[in-house]
Amino acid sequence: MAAHFGMIGLGTMGSNLVLNVADHGFEACGYDRDPAQQKKLMEEAGDRPVTTAATLPDFVKALKTPRVIMLLVPAGKIVDNVINDLLPLVQKGDIIIDGGNSHFVDTDRRYLLLQNSGVHFIGMGVSGGEEGARLGPSLMPGGNKESYELVKDVLSAIAAKTDEGPCVAFIGNTAAGHYTKMVHNGIEYAMMQLISEVYGILKSAGQLSNTEFHELFKSWNKSVLQSFLIEITADIFLKKDEELKEDLVDFILDKAKQKGTGMWTSQSAMDLNVSIPTIDAAVSMRYLSALKDERVKNSKLYPVSGNGKVGSKEQLIALCQNALHFGFLLSYGQGLQLLNVASAQYNYAIDIAEIIRVWKGGCIIRSGLLNDLRKAYLQEKTLSNIISSPLFVPVLVSLRKDVAALVKVAIDHQLPLASLSASLNYFDAYITGRLPANLIQAQRDFFGAHTYERLDKEGVFHTEWVDKPPVVTSTQKPKEE
Ligand code: 6PG
Repeated sequence: MAAHFGMIGLGTMGSNLVLNVADHGFEACGYDRDPAQQKKLMEEAGDRPVTTAATLPDFVKALKTPRVIMLLVPAGKIVDNVINDLLPLVQKGDIIIDGGNSHFVDTDRRYLLLQNSGVHFIGMGVSGGEEGARLGPSLMPGGNKESYELVKDVLSAIAAKTDEGPCVAFIGNTAAGHYTKMVHNGIEYAMMQLISEVYGILKSAGQLSNTEFHELFKSWNKSVLQSFLIEITADIFLKKDEELKEDLVDFILDKAKQKGTGMWTSQSAMDLNVSIPTIDAAVSMRYLSALKDERVKNSKLYPVSGNGKVGSKEQLIALCQNALHFGFLLSYGQGLQLLNVASAQYNYAIDIAEIIRVWKGGCIIRSGLLNDLRKAYLQEKTLSNIISSPLFVPVLVSLRKDVAALVKVAIDHQLPLASLSASLNYFDAYITGRLPANLIQAQRDFFGAHTYERLDKEGVFHTEWVDKPPVVTSTQKPKEE
């Protein structure tokens, strides 16, 4: 039996994808350097059309041509090593898909390398975790349309399905797929941070128990906040530690780890001069959370004195629901704006409405809100940011006052709402016609003759701000002779 689909890397994600492929009637062959992983896959596969190969050359020989070979190995050097090992074994027209969370700059480099050797290369974002891989992930393949057409059938078969079809599409040129997955993760970080901020304030100022949190998140999942992350959060509050028979969430160390994709999103946004402060704050708060020992020491130096008015529990919950709605919308808004700018800069030719469709199922940031976001981009393909979409103006206006009220409560209680207040400041700045940035321009021109533009006339101007330039005094002592 020659296989339609090959997978290198049989960790849980790789094995689950192989089983998913086989469940859809495609023969699949798996390869992993660790024979134990191959054995585990074969046990799980039962009588599905799955094989494994003992060596890489045997694996390549087991595949039908043109060969479709997907890699699910850790991002970084290992991807280069596997590609180098494969290159002498594959032939022109074969297709290599990198399904890991690779950095888009690496994907660009690999795309060029393989293009020169006549092998198709697809950098594909895969979202949905282990369960998504098994039952239907959201897939974000990029590269070129011709390569995508060769694998479209199998990818469409294994992807999650929604009312708008399989959660896969040709995302765009070269590294567009991995860039899009990176931005997906930036939004993921922001949504998770926002949820944790609301949890923090409801726990401290609202005194909610874990049972109440479970019920609240369950009910929110039936509201406008319906989403994968809200759904799993409801379940988290139910889980008991098996030994202690107590709520597990209360025993988890408050240091949030990361593998770097959120940081890459912030770095790329800085490179492209795009403001994404809700995401930036989420990345930054992961770093701050890691400073546990310092935080504990500092908490003794600065005892919390905050204790403002909270209102009823119900009122606080209502503020939190609206604040999450606001924060989620702006997280998506910032991520989509970044995608738009990156697409123009790097010639990805991304269709934002199509990306939103692909995110509607299978991925970590799937939510009911994506339906309206998609409508906004279908109505206005060149929309720069959802803040200016007529669909969102009334929504954001009505949510803003509750976000402001919640931020005030948080300030009174000394509870950090980094991503939420960043969202509020971002929104307020984005809807302000005249910002105080004129003063920054004047300062730049004062000390560095950097020039400025004017409101009342065209051109570039420089002013001698004082008659005599200020004297710079050195704080260093003169050297003794
Ligand atoms: C997904 C996720 C996944 C990511 C994890 C962990 O879409 O399935 O984004 O790809 O690796 O969420 O990310 P961090 O370790 O950086 O939190």
